[in-house]
Amino acid sequence: MSNNNLQPAGFLNIPVPKDIDLVQAIQNLKKEKNAVILAHYYQEGVIQDIADYVGDSLALAQWASKTEADIIVLCGVHFMGETAKILSLEKRVFVPDLNAGCSLADSCPAEEFEKFIQKHPDHTVISYVNTTAAVKTLTDVVVTSTNARQIVESFPPETKIIFGPDKNLGGYINSITGRNMVLWDGACHVHERFSLEKILQLKEEHPDALILAHPECKSVILKIADFVGSTSALLSLATQSDKKEFIVATESGILHEMQEKNPEKVFIPAPPNDSTCACNECVFMKLNTMEKLYNCLQYEMPEIFIDEEIIEKAKKPIQKMLELSEKLKL
Ligand code: 13P
Ligand code: SF4
Repeated sequence: MSNNNLQPAGFLNIPVPKDIDLVQAIQNLKKEKNAVILAHYYQEGVIQDIADYVGDSLALAQWASKTEADIIVLCGVHFMGETAKILSLEKRVFVPDLNAGCSLADSCPAEEFEKFIQKHPDHTVISYVNTTAAVKTLTDVVVTSTNARQIVESFPPETKIIFGPDKNLGGYINSITGRNMVLWDGACHVHERFSLEKILQLKEEHPDALILAHPECKSVILKIADFVGSTSALLSLATQSDKKEFIVATESGILHEMQEKNPEKVFIPAPPNDSTCACNECVFMKLNTMEKLYNCLQYEMPEIFIDEEIIEKAKKPIQKMLELSEKLKL
């Protein structure tokens, strides 16, 4: 797993005081410690509701680079905490449960990625933000699903590019840009397991519904989707659309914000193929809970620490992404 920080033994078992109003207690601690809570759309609804900012991977990185707070609590997964730390070195960064890894980041060990790069010596290396800091040190520019297409297209068409680690996102960008990027063979276990049959069945039951899909989904899902985009792009599309029903093929946490912004519309989670459950959840994202968030602020742990040398190298491709995103107004 992509996580080499130590979670203090027993930390996750520290009980929260009985009968405590968790929402109030978290708000009090946040104020007392000048902390900011940043949450990804895949966090459970109560965490999104208490967060200062809720956003996609790009927005979380942008906020982390700008915040005036002394402490950042990143309610997301480990690589998001790492990215926040790299961008805000002087701040203390915490993730409520450091076991919150990412199957996609884990599918790309830095040593193997380095060998892959060595086999393609004249290639520019573009890495998805869902990677360890060590992989980012091997990268020329980082992208998220919000800016990947535009950043790839900012390079001249003849540029030879390695894209890692998500083969689905990379394949999708190849298909819409006509590029021929060399792809690392990685994937996200959540987005890979949507069931084509079950989505088509839902479409039959809701013929007017639009199918929205995240580009980490397999190409068979992307081909039948009416719209493909990052979590924030799916949210904007659903909000701006005149349609009333949407089948949503990404982690089901996004439905919270979709429903909140569009109470009159119907959002149907696309189901996974290997379960009877209607929703598709990221087990890593859901490791963070309100209790762990409270303990994290109260005890100021578990903290993200990264080697200085790694920070220095990993910062460059992330900064480059932020600069390009600003230039491209993303
Ligand atoms: P975005 O937040 O960029 O849409 O990415 C989704 C994701 O899988 C994050 O882990
Ligand atoms: Fe990683 Fe997939 Fe979970 Fe996102 S949804 S954190 S890509 S495992």
